[in-house]
Amino acid sequence: MIHASALTKHFTTRKRTVEAVRGIDLNVEAGEMVAILGPNGAGKSTTLRMLTTLLLPTSGTAQVAGADIRTQPRQVRSRIGYVGQGTGSGYNQRGRDELISQGRAYGMSTDQARRRAEELIASLDLSNVADRRSSSLSGGQKRRLDIALGLMHTPPLLFLDEPSTGLDPQNRANLHEHIRELRSRHDTTIVFTTHYLDEADQLAERVVVIDHGTIIADDTPERLKAEYAGDRITLTFDRADDAKRAFGHLMARAESARGTHDGVRVVLEVDGGSRLAPALLRELEEADLPVAAVEIARPTLDDVFLNLTGRSLRDAAASEPAATQEVPA
Ligand SMILES: Nc1ncnc2c1ncn2[C@@H]1O[C@H](COP(=O)(O)OP(=O)(O)O)[C@@H](O)[C@H]1O
Ligand SMILES: [Mg+2]
Repeated sequence: MIHASALTKHFTTRKRTVEAVRGIDLNVEAGEMVAILGPNGAGKSTTLRMLTTLLLPTSGTAQVAGADIRTQPRQVRSRIGYVGQGTGSGYNQRGRDELISQGRAYGMSTDQARRRAEELIASLDLSNVADRRSSSLSGGQKRRLDIALGLMHTPPLLFLDEPSTGLDPQNRANLHEHIRELRSRHDTTIVFTTHYLDEADQLAERVVVIDHGTIIADDTPERLKAEYAGDRITLTFDRADDAKRAFGHLMARAESARGTHDGVRVVLEVDGGSRLAPALLRELEEADLPVAAVEIARPTLDDVFLNLTGRSLRDAAASEPAATQEVPA
């Protein structure tokens, strides 16, 4: 469905050149559900906008839904759906009519378009807004209408740029449900970007981790966690002094090379946490360092990102300014 090879995009402004995307290779098979995960400014939107022919790459090539993004942009566009980041354009019809026009523009009959519009209005919680002019809607309402517009014609390949940013938890859950249904009912190939770790983990079958314009990992969430992060064992002691001595003891062991120590707590990152923990507890007991509480947690995608980049994606996403403002090139 997608074969992209060595895609790059540089933006040159008066002051400087930004290398937004620096050589992306990406293959997506029909029927896959892929998340592109990365912090703000990583190059997610730029990648999507090249794949959807909205931006011409600086170099590199891509075939999308069987057509070339450089030489056959019209064919690409007719075979894909795209919901851009941020709240959309100044639609000026009523929400329901926008949806029906969109369906008609993609070749649906009026009846089909009506039926599909009602489905989407119900499932994306748009019933209160379907009869209002879209220019009068709130940010979250516009966002849901944008998504409904992208889902109207059930294209074989759908790109969603940060679909759930700005939605409340209930609407986010509805959207996830809808995306899953597109997959199971229409076999739609879906590529979405996100900086939400749990969203990538729960929704995607494959996660492409991107940072500074390059892909740094690409696999199922399970394999990423198994390969790049370990289980987390948190040991709590009654006294900070015990925690400190226990930390020294544990760091001397080969299996628990990664760890931190803070106050009465020691956190270790290990392979096979539940297998290792009993032995550790016994050793500490024997060394007269009794453990007051122990907790074993499976790794998250944030641990993966942290181990790959040295930064927490949670912090990176929160601390960067909104770098997604469009600056005219
Ligand atoms: N039109 C543009 N002109 C100049 N710089 C841009 C433009 N679009 C994006 N950038 C820059 O390219 C980098 C990647 O941006 P973007 O693809 O929007 O990242 P993401 O979607 O991952 O947050 C950022 O540093 C951003 O500021
Ligand atoms: Mg973006």
